[in-house]
Amino acid sequence: MSKKLYIKTYGCQMNVYDSLRMADVLAPLGYEETDSPAHADMVILNTCHIREKAAEKVYSDLGRIREEKERQAGEGKKILIAVAGCVAQAEGEEIIARAPYVDMVVGPQSYHTLPDLICKTDRSRKSAVALDFIEEQKFDLLPESLKSQGVSAFVSVQEGCDKFCTFCVVPYTRGAEYSRPVAAIEKEVRAQVAMGAIEIVLLGQNVNAYHGEGADGKEWSFAQLLARIAAIPGIARLRYTTSHPKEMTEDLIRAHGDIENLMPMLHLPVQSGADRILKAMNRKHTAADYIAIIEKLRAVRPDIALSSDFIVGFPGETERDFEDTLRLVETVGFASSYSFKYSPRPGTPAAEKDMQVEEPVKEERLARLQALIAQQQLAFNRTKLGAVMPVLFTREGRQNGQSLGKTPYLQSVYVEQGGELINRLVDVTITGAYANSLKGEVTSQGVISG
Ligand code: SAH
Ligand code: SF4
Ligand code: F3S
Repeated sequence: MSKKLYIKTYGCQMNVYDSLRMADVLAPLGYEETDSPAHADMVILNTCHIREKAAEKVYSDLGRIREEKERQAGEGKKILIAVAGCVAQAEGEEIIARAPYVDMVVGPQSYHTLPDLICKTDRSRKSAVALDFIEEQKFDLLPESLKSQGVSAFVSVQEGCDKFCTFCVVPYTRGAEYSRPVAAIEKEVRAQVAMGAIEIVLLGQNVNAYHGEGADGKEWSFAQLLARIAAIPGIARLRYTTSHPKEMTEDLIRAHGDIENLMPMLHLPVQSGADRILKAMNRKHTAADYIAIIEKLRAVRPDIALSSDFIVGFPGETERDFEDTLRLVETVGFASSYSFKYSPRPGTPAAEKDMQVEEPVKEERLARLQALIAQQQLAFNRTKLGAVMPVLFTREGRQNGQSLGKTPYLQSVYVEQGGELINRLVDVTITGAYANSLKGEVTSQGVISG
C-alpha cells in the first residue's frame, strides 16, 4: 500500500541532494513523495545548522507538524516525524528532549538506516536516534536505484570539511572530508543523463578539495574528475559548488579554459576582504590571494562571472576591516553574492571570542554591502541586454503563459511563452534586465537541445 512522505529541505544543495536520496531509500517501503504535510504518513525535516535563524526555524516548523500529528492521532492515524540533517547531527538527543513527539533523529551519514529506524520506532514506540559517522559507506549503502531529477541533476561527489573556519559548524555536522570514487560518480551521472538530465551540478561542502579514487586506481584531483564527467555525451552544462579559494589549483583554473561545457560562472566564497579577519576566520588565504585567483580565471576564461559569500560583523571586525570587504567587492565585480550577519554557533571557536560586534552595527554593514552587491548584480544583468543566450527552462513563471529558465550565469530569465519550453535549452534574446531577473524572447532558431 502506498504511503505518503513529505520532506522539507533547509540549507544547502547538499541537503537537497540528500533529501532526494532519502526518498530513494524509502521508496521500496512504499513511500511516495507528497508536497504537503497535511496527509503525510511520514514527515522528514532535513535541517540546516549554519546560522541560528536556520536552526530555530526547525522548532517552529516542528510545532506546526505536532498539531497535524495530534489531529491525525484523533482519527487513529500515526504520522512519523523525523529530524534529519545538520541540526540532527549537532543536537542529537536534545531534539527529543525539546520535542518529544519527534520519532527519529537521523544524522547526514545515517540515512541508509531510515528503514530500520522506522521498524524500531514501530515496535518500541520510543524515539530512535542514529548519528554514526561512516562517511566511506554512506554512498555505498544508499540504494543504487535513483529517481530522475529531470533536466538538471545534482550529484554529490564529496562530503565533509577539514578546513575548520572558526565561524562554521560544517566540519562538526558533516565530519571529515570524504571523496567518492570516480567510477561511482560517473555511474550516477550517466544514470541521470539517461533519464533526461542535460545539466549536471557536482556538489560538495568543499567540492574542489575532491581527491577520490580514479579510474586508474590512483587519487584524482577535482580537475581530473571534471574533465571525465564533462566528456559524458549529453551533458550540455556542467557546474560545481561550493569551492574554497585555497583549493583553486592551477589545473582546476586551466579546466575553466579547456572544458567547453563547464559553465562560465563560479561561486567562490571569500567571506571578507580584510586579511586580519580572514586570518581570524582561519580561511588560509588573503584578499590578494583571492584577487589573484580571479585574475587567473579571467585570463583563461574571459567571460567567467563570479559569485561569493560574505560574513559581516565577525568578532573584532572594525569599520576599516569592513571597508576592505567593500573594496574587494569593488575590485572583483560580482555577478551576484550572498551575504550574512555573523551568527555565533555553539562549539565553534569564534563564538567564544570577546569583541562580538553589536547587532545594529551588523545590520548597518549588511545593508551597505547588500546595496553594493545589488548594484553590481544589476550592472551585470544589464551587460546582457540584447545578447542571445542559451536558457535552460525548468518551470512555469509566476504568471500564466510564462516560462522560467537560467542563463549560463545562473540569471533567471522569463519569457512570455508557455509550457512547451520547459525542460529545454533554447536560444533567447535578452530584452529586459532587472535587479533579480532578465526578460527575453525566444529567437527564431529556437531549440538547441531537449
Ligand atoms: N563550504 C562553503 C560554504 C559553507 S556554508 C565554503 O567554504 O565557503 C555557506 C555560507 O554560510 C558560508 O560561505 C558563510 O558565508 C556562511 N556562514 C557559515 N557560517 C556562518 C555563521 N556562523 N554566521 C554567518 N554566516 C555563516
Ligand atoms: Fe565551513 Fe569553512 Fe568548511 Fe566552508 S570551508 S564548510 S565555511 S569550515
Ligand atoms: Fe546547512 Fe549543513 Fe548545508 S549546516 S548549509 S545543511 S552542510
